[in-house]
Amino acid sequence: MSDHDKLVQRLIENMTAGGSLRTQPWKDAAAAVPRHEFLRSGFFRVVSGSSPTAWAPVLEDGDGWLEACYADESLVTQIAGTIKPADIRGEIMREPTSSSTLPSLVLRMLEDLQVEPDMTVLEIGTGTGYSTAVLCARLGGGRVTSIEYDEEVALRAREALGRIGTHPNLLIGDGLLGGDQGALYDRIIATCAVRTVPAVWLEQIRPGGQILTTIGGWLNASELVRLTVHEDGTASGPVLSGQVSFMLARPHQAPSLGMLPDLSAGEEREAIIGADVLDDWTTRFVAQFAVPTAQRLKLRNGQYDEDVLIDAETGSFAALHEEDGRWVVRQGGSDALWDAVEEQLGRWHAARTPTVEEATVRVTPEGQSIHW
Ligand SMILES: C[S@@+](CC[C@H](N)C(=O)[O-])C[C@H]1O[C@@H](n2cnc3c(N)ncnc32)[C@H](O)[C@@H]1O
Repeated sequence: MSDHDKLVQRLIENMTAGGSLRTQPWKDAAAAVPRHEFLRSGFFRVVSGSSPTAWAPVLEDGDGWLEACYADESLVTQIAGTIKPADIRGEIMREPTSSSTLPSLVLRMLEDLQVEPDMTVLEIGTGTGYSTAVLCARLGGGRVTSIEYDEEVALRAREALGRIGTHPNLLIGDGLLGGDQGALYDRIIATCAVRTVPAVWLEQIRPGGQILTTIGGWLNASELVRLTVHEDGTASGPVLSGQVSFMLARPHQAPSLGMLPDLSAGEEREAIIGADVLDDWTTRFVAQFAVPTAQRLKLRNGQYDEDVLIDAETGSFAALHEEDGRWVVRQGGSDALWDAVEEQLGRWHAARTPTVEEATVRVTPEGQSIHW
């Protein structure tokens, strides 16, 4: 067995032992895809101990390159929308914008997709093309369409897929607008997160088909959901476990806050629920459905530390601080953001704070909601 075969074998064994790779057809598909072919442009590694996070390039055949390609790691391949590993000497401190997803998450999601061999799949977020290749290894390139927002990233993926002799239908564009015009798919899988599930995805799925996507948001919590599309054009389904987190689809990223509204104006009342609940991932995930366009920041205002939610579009805000052991909220703008959060969390508390795995997400062309 070659060194490369041993690395692949070990990755498959680890993913199987960890429970993400569960069935033989996906084991065969994973074994058939050489991940290093999708990382020939190198990747960025976190500089240990850096804060804010700094990234250093690792180029093809550089120290640890091949081993990392077969480690169960997400490997960042683009930073700040344009920068690839060969562009940098030294370190960079900006946000990752493309990556090769953790293989165990790719395979876990493909297992969760409940796909059958005769189905067609639309993948949103081609990235390096690795997950596209695994899909093709199982279904054949003719059944797989994958769309990537970033042209350079898409072209590199096309090259890598071509190198291993795989030819899916590759599109360049905004996957939030769907795949090929007028096409219908059996499954949609997104390897970037969405803030809201686009209505067009519901239209591009055959009734009974499924959408597997991470719903994320600007309060920084996300979960994987599997939605079944119904005859009436709505979709619903369970939240799956794991606090799965992906980079948000580029058009869904939070806008800059711009000029802050006057946070001293507004109506003050005692809060029923304090802002500290938002330090918890699941609470933030639940709250996000009620205030999907709110962003959170912490400010010092006079003698108080304030936890602030701001909707950059409407200028609505809720500023909370603790005073003599109670929480006080001051709200301004057209939307009472904290009223909405308290109502949502109130329903969740009344149901005895069920876990997210007990929740169902519903999506209609008008919007999305979470239920217990
Ligand atoms: C985590 S990476 C995908 C990883 C990929 N599946 C792999 O195995 O390499 C997410 C990708 O989604 C892409 N993306 C972001 N927004 C998108 C959108 N609206 N439509 C299509 N792709 C998008 C990003 O450019 C990025 O390449």
